Amino acid sequence: MELAALILAAGKGTRMKSALPKVLHPIAGRTMVGHVLDAVAGLDPARVAVVIGPDMEDVAEAVAPAAAVVQPEQLGTADAVKTARDVLPPIEGTVLVLYGDTPFIGRGTLEKMVAAREAAAETAVVVLGFRPADPGAYGRLVLAPNGDLQAIVEARDASPDVLAIDLCNSGVMAIDGARLWELIDAVGNDNAKGEYYLTDIVAIARSQGLTCTFIEADAEELSGVNSRAELAVAEAIMQQRLRAAAMANGATLIDPTTVWFSYDTRIGEDVTIGPNVFFGPGVSVANGAEIRAFSHLEGATLGEDVTVGPFARLRPGAVVAKGARVGNFVEVKNATLEEGAKVNHLTYIGDARVGEAANVGAGTITCNYDGFLKHHTDIGAGAFIGSNTALVAPVKIGAGAIVGAGSTIGKDVEADALAVERADTKMTRGWAKMFREKKSAEKAAQQKSKQKTARK
Ligand code: UD1
Ligand code: CA
Repeated sequence: MELAALILAAGKGTRMKSALPKVLHPIAGRTMVGHVLDAVAGLDPARVAVVIGPDMEDVAEAVAPAAAVVQPEQLGTADAVKTARDVLPPIEGTVLVLYGDTPFIGRGTLEKMVAAREAAAETAVVVLGFRPADPGAYGRLVLAPNGDLQAIVEARDASPDVLAIDLCNSGVMAIDGARLWELIDAVGNDNAKGEYYLTDIVAIARSQGLTCTFIEADAEELSGVNSRAELAVAEAIMQQRLRAAAMANGATLIDPTTVWFSYDTRIGEDVTIGPNVFFGPGVSVANGAEIRAFSHLEGATLGEDVTVGPFARLRPGAVVAKGARVGNFVEVKNATLEEGAKVNHLTYIGDARVGEAANVGAGTITCNYDGFLKHHTDIGAGAFIGSNTALVAPVKIGAGAIVGAGSTIGKDVEADALAVERADTKMTRGWAKMFREKKSAEKAAQQKSKQKTARK
């Protein structure tokens, strides 16, 4: 049996009040439609297509290699499906229809739907139902006496009896791929909204003697996003899941609700994460690492037993090898800290290698950018960089070399050499004492003359 998936996302999402199409708003670092595509990818469909609106090239780009088809006018969900006719030829199997704005749909639920659809040849449509706290504007699932699905009635077209049904249409459907186009062609627009309702294919299939059924899923899995407030709720749900997964995998989160993960954050066992830590996309953390409070990580790879933070910033391309340490107010970008290297305080390491067991002192800056191009800094194994050093890239510090504090290094330093760039210290004996005495005498004279003026 073949499988295809069609994701509807032509809606503008007006209530988001955003220049960005709704389905591109991120949840845990991935777009809403990206989450849906990921669930679908788990079933390994032969074809995936996304229906978008005009002027949504950015959505087309985001969903590639899935095919994007433009629905010129939003004439309803059945019309949206119709737009994809050219990219979804009839198949012996199932076409899943989903919405781009329901990011929690799970692969397991989709598998159940496909299995239910394919269990019997006469099953034309399987609908995913749910019981939301407020059924409001959702379409209602009307059941036949034998428990099959008889029809879906849109809220606007429903009688009070039907509105009393709490089992609602989530919008997700599994449809017989051989019958899809015939069913779609039979949909009219004689209803309250004057739209082509995809939901009508249930009654149409039944009238042809075919069977329709439903599966019920948890309301949370089907919560959609229509506004910024709902986006925030979705983010909270996703974070709760990611935190639970990290802890189930053996990480300690000292204050879980303040740790923010991305969809793809990989956390090993015995990792300890302090309060207020943020993970952007692309971070992996090996076993035994400790990430202290208020650190921000993105695109970083952390080896075993590393210590990061508090207040560290790891940007894309930061690699911290086993046992290395990144301390407070340290920023690392596109740089590797090899095993046991230490960069403990107030430092910027960008476009660099810090060799094994090297020690970078407080206030060191790799001057990687000359205003036009980025350059590389290479610090050899066991090197020692004194505090407040500027390393003007491109520059190499040899293994075991020592750079004196306060140096500006613009030339390569040989292995095991001392490099120091500093004006000589001038010392004038007794000068400070003399200065203090002179100044206190001046101050006393000034106060005396002020008192005189005040008495007059
Ligand atoms: C639809 C269902 C309703 C269900 C609800 C669940 C129909 C007729 N109704 O209602 O039974 O309870 O979803 O949320 O199907 N879209 C397009 N092109 C269009 C119209 C819609 O791509 O012309 C897309 C939207 O971007 C959205 C999805 O289809 O992702 C659903 O559209 P929406 O207008 O939200 O449908 P509802 O009226 O809420
Ligand atoms: Ca909707």
